[in-house]
Amino acid sequence: MKKIVVAIDGFSSCGKSTMAKALAKYAGYTYVDTGAMYRAVALYAIDHNLIDADNIDEIGLNKALNDIKISFITVDSVQHTVLNGVDVESRIRTLEVANGASRVSAIGFVRRALVALQQEMGKEGGVVMDGRDIATVVFPNAELKVFVTATAEVRAQRRYDELKAKGEEQPYADVLANVQERDYRDTHRAESPLRQADDARLLDNSNMTREEQFELLKSWFEETIA
Ligand code: DC
Repeated sequence: MKKIVVAIDGFSSCGKSTMAKALAKYAGYTYVDTGAMYRAVALYAIDHNLIDADNIDEIGLNKALNDIKISFITVDSVQHTVLNGVDVESRIRTLEVANGASRVSAIGFVRRALVALQQEMGKEGGVVMDGRDIATVVFPNAELKVFVTATAEVRAQRRYDELKAKGEEQPYADVLANVQERDYRDTHRAESPLRQADDARLLDNSNMTREEQFELLKSWFEETIA
């Protein structure tokens, strides 16, 4: 049976990756977390003093791109991101790196390099890839395109709960402000802003359980491969 490309885009903290991972497991496909790739670039920039609160050293970052090698490994059935041979999975999940990722992902040369890598990873099909521009830029011919959303408040609450569970509790108001700030940046940047592809199916999960979302996604997948 032909292995398709499933492109899942949407806002931050809307549960895309949970859904994408579950579908990849169900279908026996490879899961590619493109947000993790932007986070890895941001972490590299932080570690090499190429980014601070106000500025990004774009010339330095551009020069460094060839030295940034990103891959994925599986540890106890969980995908981990590897940056230059080091497992950075927990380091890329902080708020600091999320903010850095949102900023470096607005830079054209960063996007071009990561898009090329993502296209290479998915060229044989059999992938579920999630991000912001998968259906619009990376795989505009993906057989199944899904755009996921939920209200900013619902997403902030989910993010707040996640951070708290990791012992990194932040005031809810800060988490909400961060979600809104990232939404604004993701949808207003000049390079590949987040938007629903014309032929993407919309999945608003504000009032859905994980199981309900997965059932819907599975039914779309089955319908597409049939
Ligand atoms: O999905 P995430 O929160 O891990 O993504 C981190 C940042 O990277 C987010 O601000 C949006 C950006 N991103 C992007 O611009 N394009 C992608 N394909 C994936 C993520």
